[in-house]
Amino acid sequence: MANLEARKHISPDSGFPIALHPNFNPKIKNHVPPDPVREEFQPPKDRASFADPEKKSLLSVAKRTDLTESIGTVLENVQLSQLNEKQLDELALLVTERGVVYFRDQDLTTEGQVKLFEHYGTLDKHPAQKDVKHVIIQGSREDHREINKYTPWPSGDFHADTSFEVNPPSYSLLRMEEHPEVGGDTAWVSQYGLYDSLSPAMQKFVEGLHAIHTSRLQYDTILDLWGTGPNRPPIDTHHPAVRTHPVTGLKALNVNGGFVTGFAELKKFESDKLLDFFQYHIHSADDHYVRWKWAVGSVAMWDNRAVVHRVIPGTYEGNRRGIRTTVFGEKPYFDPQSESRKQRTGRIKKEKEGLNGSAPNGTNGTETPA
Ligand SMILES: [Fe+2]
Repeated sequence: MANLEARKHISPDSGFPIALHPNFNPKIKNHVPPDPVREEFQPPKDRASFADPEKKSLLSVAKRTDLTESIGTVLENVQLSQLNEKQLDELALLVTERGVVYFRDQDLTTEGQVKLFEHYGTLDKHPAQKDVKHVIIQGSREDHREINKYTPWPSGDFHADTSFEVNPPSYSLLRMEEHPEVGGDTAWVSQYGLYDSLSPAMQKFVEGLHAIHTSRLQYDTILDLWGTGPNRPPIDTHHPAVRTHPVTGLKALNVNGGFVTGFAELKKFESDKLLDFFQYHIHSADDHYVRWKWAVGSVAMWDNRAVVHRVIPGTYEGNRRGIRTTVFGEKPYFDPQSESRKQRTGRIKKEKEGLNGSAPNGTNGTETPA
């Protein structure tokens, strides 16, 4: 936090730093990003679309344990470095369904991780990333509540990785190389679950909105707090506030506290209050939340279209160092014909009951068409 320009300007009255407008902050004002803003493009077809829906190749070798009903699965008895292309496709499908999948004691190297992730598409480059293939993730021992007094980006809040991009990331994989014994956990929340737990009236209302995802606040904070020059100019992108997942076909909330600053169709106070509500909604969704305790060699792979996440700040000693690879996804869209996860579960249950109910005498109904 010592980096912040505001720390150099102390109010004579309170004795505390003054938060400076970006135009008066030389670190922000003088930076000229070297790369242009990204244009929309069509990513290759999602590898999960090629997977066997039953995931037999993967689940015949890996032991699956679901951590909560809504989100998060651990796979054991498997090394990511040994998976074949069929198993990798099935892993992607599992990630689209469960939001995040975890592994422990992996022997994957950075080179191997990059190669593995290239299977899933075009590797993303974070605005602050110097290496073109991966980004180094560290933890935080800062108090985010305090930082937010002096710099505009809520850097510790729930987010989907770089959701402000025109083509935001689909999959991310984080592998931990150094980690303290305790602290530095990461939490994820299901955006399928966040949508499902809204009332029908609220669902309908939010489906008509675009969320304003911005990199503007992160841009300023990267320069001031991290002392790194972002590669690209800041952008505001208006994405559907509810999106349809291209693989599962399910509706997911597409709002996060880390990058969303409001709603394009609403007036200022309407927008602010709705965003406030969503902050509460995300932070109180314990039934759609999972928290992961890292160790060296642990891996998490998640789908940014289905979950938001945040690192839990701590006060731990020692280094926390992870390697993240990310691939671009499609431009988010909303299909009004798509169903929610709850609707789908209900429909499938009904279809099964219908099958059993209409089964002819002496049969189990398996031959009755749905
Ligand atoms: Fe992240």
